[in-house]
Amino acid sequence: MSPGQPRRCAGACQKVRGTSRSDARRATSRRQACRADGSVGPVTLDLVTPGDAVIETAALTRRFDQITAVDRLDLTVAAGRIFGLLGPNGAGKTTTIKMLTTLLPPSAGSARVAGFDAVREAQQVRRRIGYVSQMLSADGGLTAVENLRLSAALYGVPRRERAARIDAALEFFGLTGQARQLVKTYSGGMIRRLELAQALLHEPAVLFLDEPTMGLDPLARRAVWERLEALNGRGATTILITTHDMEEADVLCDEVALMHRGAEAPGGAGGHARRRVRALRRRLNRRRRHVP
Ligand SMILES: Nc1ncnc2c1ncn2[C@@H]1O[C@H](COP(=O)(O)OP(=O)(O)O)[C@@H](O)[C@H]1O
Ligand SMILES: [Mg+2]
Repeated sequence: MSPGQPRRCAGACQKVRGTSRSDARRATSRRQACRADGSVGPVTLDLVTPGDAVIETAALTRRFDQITAVDRLDLTVAAGRIFGLLGPNGAGKTTTIKMLTTLLPPSAGSARVAGFDAVREAQQVRRRIGYVSQMLSADGGLTAVENLRLSAALYGVPRRERAARIDAALEFFGLTGQARQLVKTYSGGMIRRLELAQALLHEPAVLFLDEPTMGLDPLARRAVWERLEALNGRGATTILITTHDMEEADVLCDEVALMHRGAEAPGGAGGHARRRVRALRRRLNRRRRHVP
């Protein structure tokens, strides 16, 4: 989304349903926006109202020869949430994200993202999503501004809006001072923030992040979390994040699911990871209840 700018909306402030932390953050940001300039804050989910599912899979499956990487996965993510897909290496997290972002066709089952089918309406889905892959992907031989210009063109951001959106994105992600430096001189944390800026220039409704803080030092990790919370707090962007880091899920997520061997593992019985996820879920639920 365009960092910084509340979007004008013709209607009155919408009543926000639900009880999650992000619902409360969204309600606050909307109230503030209404008081300040008569606009209703960032509302970009054109087909979706808060609480509706923006990601929905039914028996989503992907096989690679003998391996079933994702096995009949049923997943629902409500608008405005930060949803954590947890699981150890090989659990099927990246394969799930690749199917949801239309990069990989499912072997069976279905997925809807932002109101569209990820196979039959892949083009519509692509327009509404941003994706930051597990591997660092910004071009080190270009400056941040050049990388951002490239993304703006690739994602079809209208020409007349590009400069302003790029400036706002650099500002939001704390990169204005280094905007004209070659990215190969950046730290890992700066590259990640730049990649987030690139993935958000076209104001996607849903942002997919595949282990976004892997390999970052604690400070850089915190900086990424803080920006993601600020982004989600504006209410326009639903975030699905994969991680095998419980602390990341605890700090950042409203909801979590644990993947194990391609399927959602029940949080209930058995296993250390499952017990930890069950405890985490209880904490997240308590937090939601405590939101006024
Ligand atoms: N292109 C591929 N070809 C064959 N096997 C794959 C491919 N991609 C992933 N896999 C296998 O699918 C399983 C899940 O992988 P992945 O989705 O990358 O898990 P995670 O992201 O949770 O670590 C692993 O066993 C992996 O080796
Ligand atoms: Mg992975």
